[in-house]
Amino acid sequence: MTTTIKTEVLIKRHEKLAAAMSEAGLDGMVFNPGPSLVYLTGMHFHLSERPVVAAFTPGAEPILVLPELEARKVEGLSYELEAFTYGENPSTWMAAFDKGMQAAKLNGGRVGVEAGCLRVLELRLLEEAVPQAEFIPSEETVAKLRMYKDDDEVAAMRKAVHIAQEALSATLPLIKAGMSERELAAELTLQVLRHHSDPQLPFTPIVSTGPNSANPHAFPSNRPLAAGDLLVIDWGANYGGYFSDITRTFGVGELEEEFVKIHRITQEANAAARALAAPGVTCGEVDRAARKVIEEAGYGEYFTHRTGHGLGMEGHEAPYIRGDSEMPLEAGMTFTIEPGIYLPERGGVRVEDDVVITPERLESLTDLPRELITVG
Ligand code: CO
Ligand code: CO
Repeated sequence: MTTTIKTEVLIKRHEKLAAAMSEAGLDGMVFNPGPSLVYLTGMHFHLSERPVVAAFTPGAEPILVLPELEARKVEGLSYELEAFTYGENPSTWMAAFDKGMQAAKLNGGRVGVEAGCLRVLELRLLEEAVPQAEFIPSEETVAKLRMYKDDDEVAAMRKAVHIAQEALSATLPLIKAGMSERELAAELTLQVLRHHSDPQLPFTPIVSTGPNSANPHAFPSNRPLAAGDLLVIDWGANYGGYFSDITRTFGVGELEEEFVKIHRITQEANAAARALAAPGVTCGEVDRAARKVIEEAGYGEYFTHRTGHGLGMEGHEAPYIRGDSEMPLEAGMTFTIEPGIYLPERGGVRVEDDVVITPERLESLTDLPRELITVG
C-alpha cells in the first residue's frame, strides 16, 4: 500500500512538529511504524521483528534506522533524511541505532515517544544508544497535528466513506434470515474490497444480531439471523490510509415495539449531536447533546460509551467526544457521532456517522439513510 503525500505537505508537517516539540519542551521525538510515521515521512513499514525508528529533532533533518533490505525506500526521497541501515543478524541492530541516535543528537535530551505505539523492543535499543536521554510519553504532541485534516485528507476520508456505503448497499439485498453473522460479515468485507478499499481495513466488520447486538464491540459469531432480531452492522473502508467507520442498525423482519422505539431515540440522539456540533462547541457539549436525548427517554443507563471518537489514519484518535472534554471543535477535525442504546440480553442499536467540522458548521460525510430498515 502506498500513500503519496506531497513533499511540501511533509515539510510543513516537519515544521509543525518542530514547533509542537519546542512548545512541549521536547528535544526530539522518535516514531516506530504506525500512522504517525506515515504521516511524517510518507513511507510505509510493517511493524515486524525488525525494528524501524525515525527520529525528529527541531531544526535538523530526520534520521531513520531501518533494515538494509528496505533501504531502497529512502532512495530518491524528495526531502532530506539520513538513513542508517543494519543487516539480517540482530547483532547488527545496535551499531545502526548508536550511529542514528548520535546523529540525531538525542543523548541527554527529553525525547517524546508514542507510548501506545513504541514497543519495548525499540525502547531498549534507544535507551542503550542514548543512555542519558529521557523518553517521555508525548503522543498528544503529534496527535494535535494529525487532528486537523487538510483538504486532501478529508477527500480521502470522503472516498473511504463512499466505498463503505456502496459496499453496504451491495450487501443489503443479500441478507436473509438464517445466514450467520460471519457469513454476512464475509459478504460485506468482500464488497468493501470489491469497491476498491485499500486492503488494510480499519477493523473487522461488526455484524451482531439479537442479544449479541447488546455488546457494542461484538465479534461476528455463527449465530443465524432470526426474525425479530436487531441487526447492528459497524464497518469501514480504507482509502489511501484514511478510514471510514459507519454503523447502521436494521430489523430482521418485524421488531418488537421497544426495539423500534430505542432505534428512533438513538437516531434522534445522533441528529441532536450533529445539529449542535460546530466550530467553538466543545466535545463535551456534543456528547451531552446526544446523551440528553437518551436520558430524557429513560434509557441513559443503556448508553454505555462516549458519543464518538476522532477518525483518520486510525480507527480511534483525537478528538474524543466525551462528556468531560472541554476541547473546542475546530475546522478540519473529523470524528464519529455514534450514540447507542444496549439492552442487556436483548439487543442494541447504534447509529454512527463520520463528520468533518468546516469553518462554518458540521458536515456529515456519511449520507446513508439512518431510519430503521427491515431486512431479511
Ligand atoms: Co464503528
Ligand atoms: Co466508531
